[in-house]
Amino acid sequence: MSNTPLRKGGPAARIAVLPGDGIGREVTPESIKVLRAAVKRPMDFVDLDWGADKFLREGVSLPPGAVEMLRDEFDAILFGALGDPRVPSNQHAADILLGLRFKLDLYVNARPVELLHDRLTPLSGRTERDIRIMVFRENTEGLYVGVGGIFKKGTPDEIALQEDLNTRKGVERIIRHAFAYARQHRLKRLCMSDKSNAMTFAHDLWQRVFKEVRQEYTDVDSRHLYIDTLAMEIVRDPSQFDVIVTCNLFGDIISDLGAQLGGGLGLAPSGNIHPGATSLFEPVHGSAPNIAGKGIANPLGSVLTSGMMLDFLGWPQEAALLKEAVRAALRENKVTPDLGGNLKTTEVGDWLAQYVSKNS
Ligand code: NAD
Ligand code: IPM
Ligand code: MN
Repeated sequence: MSNTPLRKGGPAARIAVLPGDGIGREVTPESIKVLRAAVKRPMDFVDLDWGADKFLREGVSLPPGAVEMLRDEFDAILFGALGDPRVPSNQHAADILLGLRFKLDLYVNARPVELLHDRLTPLSGRTERDIRIMVFRENTEGLYVGVGGIFKKGTPDEIALQEDLNTRKGVERIIRHAFAYARQHRLKRLCMSDKSNAMTFAHDLWQRVFKEVRQEYTDVDSRHLYIDTLAMEIVRDPSQFDVIVTCNLFGDIISDLGAQLGGGLGLAPSGNIHPGATSLFEPVHGSAPNIAGKGIANPLGSVLTSGMMLDFLGWPQEAALLKEAVRAALRENKVTPDLGGNLKTTEVGDWLAQYVSKNS
């Protein structure tokens, strides 16, 4: 990713750490452990306790002034996950996670799909060379904006509306980002995916903007697939994709599908990015209430996420070291049960920290 290194508080990188709920609180400390061992440059970590406990205790989700503080005082946010069965409305997660995506204008959701060890893919005959795709999900618009309402709730005449909001600016900047990324990384094949055959207004805009922007990137081999076809094609032959760009909801779904092709949700990283401004890095997985508290959550997704954060901070060597450590853990089966290992979350973190200390 091409980003101007930021430094809000002098020479040290200032990282806000927001573990959140459930396994977010188990995997994030492991990432910090590995970051401390791998990065010799100055980094300040500041813990934030936003999440379900605080919401239930104090009624506060995203505290007043939070956005300005993050924007002005921090270079990046390392995020775990939000979601708690005690908050069935998911209100705190919407306020904090979607709130930060929208209010920090983190319009690029970069979700790489990458197979780091052949044995991890459920697709037979596929190898690491076949599965390496950068998925760019639009992150500030679409069906996520919360425009809508319920009329006559609870009656037989009930009406529920959820609007799909697409702006020319929003569509253009994510499509442009995807093309620029493809060019910069010499990735030849870009696919824009929508559902313009059914969503004839919203995705007509995607079609028109795509056709305009692609004229400027004739060096990139670009094409369009409807999202249902993309879902099928990515399973049939993932090697045909280098870069995918799509809207908010489709990007959410296709990134979980992609995560599974690369070994599962426990391994998938992501960055919520506004190039050149405070950005938020989180594993793709959620708070996993079904395994929370058992000490078996896979921390590799969070560690790879931390690597994306280091890249964003302008430290590609340290980022590469984290990825190499994860590859080594996979090779040597130093992994949690979801990947067929028998290590605890903290043991994987310890192993990675030792690996990076020895190799940095
Ligand atoms: P989930 O990602 O939490 O879990 C889906 C499945 O994957 C579960 O079986 C879980 O055990 C497994 N899994 C996920 N991460 C894992 C890991 N690191 N190691 C091992 N196994 C892992 O999705 P869900 O169950 O649909 O959602 C649970 C809660 O998380 C909900 O409240 C949801 O809204 C929230 N959520 C939050 C985020 C986020 O904060 N970014 C993302 C997705 C879901
Ligand atoms: C994700 C999650 C979120 C999303 C939820 C928790 C709102 O699934 O980050 O992928 O849909 O964006
Ligand atoms: Mn998701």
